[in-house]
Amino acid sequence: MRLLQFVAALGLVGTAFSQSSTVKSYVASESPIAKAGLLANIGPSGSKSSGASSGVVVASPSTSNPNYLYMWIRDTSLVFKTIIDQVTLGQDTSLRSQIDNYIHAQAIIQQVSNPSGTVSTGGLGEPKFYINETAFEGSWGRPQRDGPALRATAMITFANWLLDNNNATFVTNTLWPIIKLDLDYVSANWNQTTFDLWEEIQSSSFFTTAVQHRSLREGSALATRIGQTSVVSGYDTQASNVLCFLQSYWNPTSGYITANTGGGRSGKDSNTVLASIHTWDIAAGCDAATFQPCSDKALSNLKVYVDSFRGIYPISSGIDASAAVAVGRYPEDVYYNGNPWYLATLGVAEQLYDALLTWDSVGSLDVTDVSLPFFKQFSSGVTTGTYASSSSTYSTLTAAIRAYAEGFVAIAAKYTPSGGGLSEQFDKSTGVPVSAVDLTWSYASALTAFGARAGTKTASWGAKGVTVPSQCTGNAGPSVSVTFNVQATTQVGESIYLAGSVDALQNWSTEYALLLSAGETYPTWTLTVTLPASTSLQYKYLRKANGTVTWQSDPDFSLTTPASGTFTQNDTWR
Ligand SMILES: *[C@@H]1O[C@H](CO)[C@@H](O)[C@H](O)[C@H]1NC(C)=O
Ligand SMILES: *[C@@H]1O[C@H](CO)[C@@H](O)[C@H](O)[C@H]1NC(C)=O
Ligand SMILES: *[C@@H]1O[C@H](CO)[C@@H](O)[C@H](O)[C@H]1NC(C)=O
Ligand SMILES: *[C@@H]1O[C@H](CO)[C@@H](O)[C@H](O)[C@H]1NC(C)=O
Ligand SMILES: *[C@@H]1O[C@H](CO)[C@@H](O)[C@H](O)[C@H]1NC(C)=O
Ligand SMILES: *[C@@H]1O[C@H](CO)[C@@H](O)[C@H](O)[C@H]1NC(C)=O
Repeated sequence: MRLLQFVAALGLVGTAFSQSSTVKSYVASESPIAKAGLLANIGPSGSKSSGASSGVVVASPSTSNPNYLYMWIRDTSLVFKTIIDQVTLGQDTSLRSQIDNYIHAQAIIQQVSNPSGTVSTGGLGEPKFYINETAFEGSWGRPQRDGPALRATAMITFANWLLDNNNATFVTNTLWPIIKLDLDYVSANWNQTTFDLWEEIQSSSFFTTAVQHRSLREGSALATRIGQTSVVSGYDTQASNVLCFLQSYWNPTSGYITANTGGGRSGKDSNTVLASIHTWDIAAGCDAATFQPCSDKALSNLKVYVDSFRGIYPISSGIDASAAVAVGRYPEDVYYNGNPWYLATLGVAEQLYDALLTWDSVGSLDVTDVSLPFFKQFSSGVTTGTYASSSSTYSTLTAAIRAYAEGFVAIAAKYTPSGGGLSEQFDKSTGVPVSAVDLTWSYASALTAFGARAGTKTASWGAKGVTVPSQCTGNAGPSVSVTFNVQATTQVGESIYLAGSVDALQNWSTEYALLLSAGETYPTWTLTVTLPASTSLQYKYLRKANGTVTWQSDPDFSLTTPASGTFTQNDTWR
């Protein structure tokens, strides 16, 4: 009766009730479809994963426009984290054999040499492989350094559960060697640039940094638990360094997390919402240092991110400025003309459900100066303060936030075609599915959002009580000395320069490209540069004469630096 009066007072009786029954029936019908859709894309016997090795997740069965018939480390890890949660929380123990297949497959994949390197020279940063566990050699945005962290997180979650269930042997003998390779990679490389999770921008990326932090924290705790103490202090040191760096993405003036340090966009990006839900730890409460879903920073960020989609998609025209809207990856997106994505829209709902669960667990809700604009969407008169769960402000706000979360699920529901298949995107004008069909990650995002909606609390990973060092320390990591020699005949007044994909090669800058020298060695021009070890990079030569710049013809040269020592690269201008 009280709830009825409350919604009646808001004049929402009709819409709120029809929305809640729509969402309820959508969740009931879509849950089994999403789960079956996810399992259909896993080899060897998934019905839509023909050709995939055992335990390999096909990103989508789509083979053209776009071709997603690959195994991405990120997608696979997020999908298997979902499965591992279902098994370890006792929701569906029948999936246990899938996990065994996955572990077997990843142990193989880690050892496959690829364009990013070998297992010991950077190959763990390779983003995607063919579904038969062989390397994809084509050009791509590599490396992507979130993959090893996400894989470690999935496996650590399973390892902790096995330890709780008297299976330490498997953890020590089989899982730990896989986890350690990934964590050593994260520990050594977190301070290097990376392609972001959308594979477009090479810089530093919030999602990557956030999941790297999580993996090192829980990796250190697991190592302690199984007596692998030699790595503990190294992982702890780097976890603190990463957490320190994580703070730098926060933009205090505009109240949001800038998703990437490069790329020249607003930085409002689903990247940040996905980071919050995939690093949720209910034991950490609403801690802002780890950007927990109910932290003031993550809530402020959520509002800014969602608002950046108001008015840009025709399907959202006429939607009230405080109601749920369809959201995509980032407002400047032009991929497939830039559309809303299911996993982004469901991700917003999931952050809100996670926040609601956390407030209930904490027993109160804080409104701070930072989160005030977020809360004002639900109650224009709300003021900063702490509201106990027994207070009417708490009830009013949480009821409205729950309805808001349901609104995002209702949007996914509205644009889910009959049959329930979830593609990657839905058209911003017509709402019909666009891009890859049966995207495994879309299905996983539905399952985790529905899980949070139903009250599922995933295992804690040690976010509680972490402290941010007062001064940040980088980790440039080991470096090597590389000499570039290029044969190039030049005219008087003309010089040869070098630029490439890493900081030390000036991030492809024409203006700041590095000058080579040619004396007695002419026509060989030469330069020795200190570069990060075990790193794959691309570079090109260019010539400058009297203010005119000419780049060598495509393709780029590429190089993987050795783990140590010196190296000489011999090229010819083209
Ligand atoms: C693996 O799959 C790729 C892509 O379909 C194919 O080109 C390659 O020949 C396959 N390799 C093996 C060993 O089957
Ligand atoms: C330990 O866990 C692994 C991985 O799921 C499983 O294959 C193995 O049978 C388990 N061993 C025992 C003794 O339960
Ligand atoms: C490396 O860490 C330092 C200190 O936090 C930071 O200033 C720098 O931007 C980081 N660089 C990358 C590429 O992560
Ligand atoms: C290269 O890009 C990174 C990340 O955007 C930035 O921190 C760094 O300063 C840039 N380096 C140069 C030499 O421009
Ligand atoms: C650059 O300008 C100088 C002086 O005008 C001229 O002698 C020279 O040929 C020019 N070089 C090129 C490569 O155009
Ligand atoms: C380049 O040439 C030097 C000496 O001529 C040689 O020692 C080096 O191995 C060459 N580098 C490569 C990558 O072939």
